[in-house]
Amino acid sequence: MTLRPDSPELADGAASWLSAYVHIPFCTRRCPYCDFAVVTPIETAVSHRAYIDALVVEINLVPDWGPLDAVSVGGGTPSLVDPELLGEVTRALDRRFGFRDDAEVALEANPEDWSPDRAAGLVAAGFRRVSFGAQSFDPDVLAALGRGHTPDDIGAAVAVARNAGFTSINLDLIFGTSGESKRSWEDSVDRAINLGVDHVSTYALTVERGTRLSKDILAGAPAPDPDDQADKYESAQHRLTEAGFVQYEVSNFAMEGHHVRYNLCTWAGGEYLGIGLGAHEHRDGVRARNLRRLDRYMEAVGERIRPRSGSETVNDREQEAAFLGLRRMAGVPLNATIEDFLGSDSGVRLAAAGVIAVDEGRLRISRPLLADAVMREFVG
Ligand SMILES: C[S@@+](CC[C@H](N)C(=O)[O-])C[C@H]1O[C@@H](n2cnc3c(N)ncnc32)[C@H](O)[C@@H]1O
Ligand code: SF4
Repeated sequence: MTLRPDSPELADGAASWLSAYVHIPFCTRRCPYCDFAVVTPIETAVSHRAYIDALVVEINLVPDWGPLDAVSVGGGTPSLVDPELLGEVTRALDRRFGFRDDAEVALEANPEDWSPDRAAGLVAAGFRRVSFGAQSFDPDVLAALGRGHTPDDIGAAVAVARNAGFTSINLDLIFGTSGESKRSWEDSVDRAINLGVDHVSTYALTVERGTRLSKDILAGAPAPDPDDQADKYESAQHRLTEAGFVQYEVSNFAMEGHHVRYNLCTWAGGEYLGIGLGAHEHRDGVRARNLRRLDRYMEAVGERIRPRSGSETVNDREQEAAFLGLRRMAGVPLNATIEDFLGSDSGVRLAAAGVIAVDEGRLRISRPLLADAVMREFVG
C-alpha cells in the first residue's frame, strides 16, 4: 500500500532509512543568488574524471553500513557530468553498501544540459528520479536569475526524461524575484502542473550573504518583498493542491507515491552519508561536514582521509527531532521538549492564533506560510 506523502507513518518510518548524498560541484557559471559549494571552469583545473575518482575513494573510506534506501546526487550541476562517470559513483555505492530493491536513486539537473542520450545514459546508470532546476517559465525572470535555459527547454527536458524511463520528475521553482508579477508566478506554477510532473518544490528567493544578489541589493537593487512572497506562496499552495498534489513539507508537493525519500529521511532525523565537496552527514549521533574548498578536498582524499571540516555530537535528540520534523505537514509526535514549548508564552500564543495545533498526539504547523516564524520562536 502506498502511503500518502503527508502521512505520519511515512514521516516517522523514514527515521530508520539509510541514505547517501553525493555532491557534484561543477557549474557552467555561478548564478547570482547561489551560495552552494560550486566551482566554475575558470575557478578550477580539477577534471570531472579526477573528482569522480575522489568520490569513489571517499565512498570506500566510509565504515560499512546497511543497504541504502535512497541516494541523492545533487550540486552544483550533476547533469554536466558524463552519465558513465556518475554510473561509477552509483556502482561504488552499490558495491560498498548495497541498495534496497526499491531504492530511490535521484539526481539534480539543469534543463539546458539534457538530451535523449544523456537521459538514457543516466537511466542505464540506475537513476529513476530527476529534479530539474526550472525556477520560472518567464524569460525575464530566468534572465534576472542568470539562468542558461529558456521556458521551452523545461518542457523539452521533462518529455525527454519521461521517454528515457525516469519514473519521478520534479521541478524546482523560485518565487519573489525582482520584476516577477503575481501573474507571471501563477503562470509558472500552472505550466509546471500542465507538464504533468510528479513533484514540485517551491522556494522563496533567499538572499544569501556574499552572493552577487546580496551585493547588488546592498548597492540599491530591489530586495525580495516578504508580502509579495507570502501571496505567491499561498497561491502556489492553492494551485498545486487543486491539481492533486499533496503538500507534505513547507516547500514540497508530491503526487501520491512520489514523495522524496532522501528528504523524508533527513527531516525524520534519519542517517545519511555525505560524500563530496561540502557534503553534510548524520551518522551514529554525529553531524559532520566536508571541506568546501576543492583543492583541500582533493588533497585530503588523496591522503586517504575523510575530508572533514567539522563535526558535532547531537546532544538534544528531542529538540533536534522537533526542529527537523516540524516543517512536515505530518508534524512531530509530542515529546517533553514540545510539551515545554506548548506550555511557554510563545506556544500558548501561537496555538491561540491557530498557527500550531495538537492533534492525535502530534504537533503540527497549521499555516505553513508561518513555519519560519514558528521555528524562530521554538528555538528562541
Ligand atoms: C543548489 S541548486 C542545484 C540544482 C541545479 N544546479 C539548479 O541550479 O537548479 C538546488 C535548488 O536550490 C534552489 N535554490 C538555490 N539557491 C536558492 C536561493 N538563494 N533562494 C531560493 N532557492 C534557491 C533552486 O530552486 C535550485 O533548483
Ligand atoms: S543555482 Fe545551480 S546552476 Fe546555479 S550556481 Fe547554484 S548549483 Fe550552479
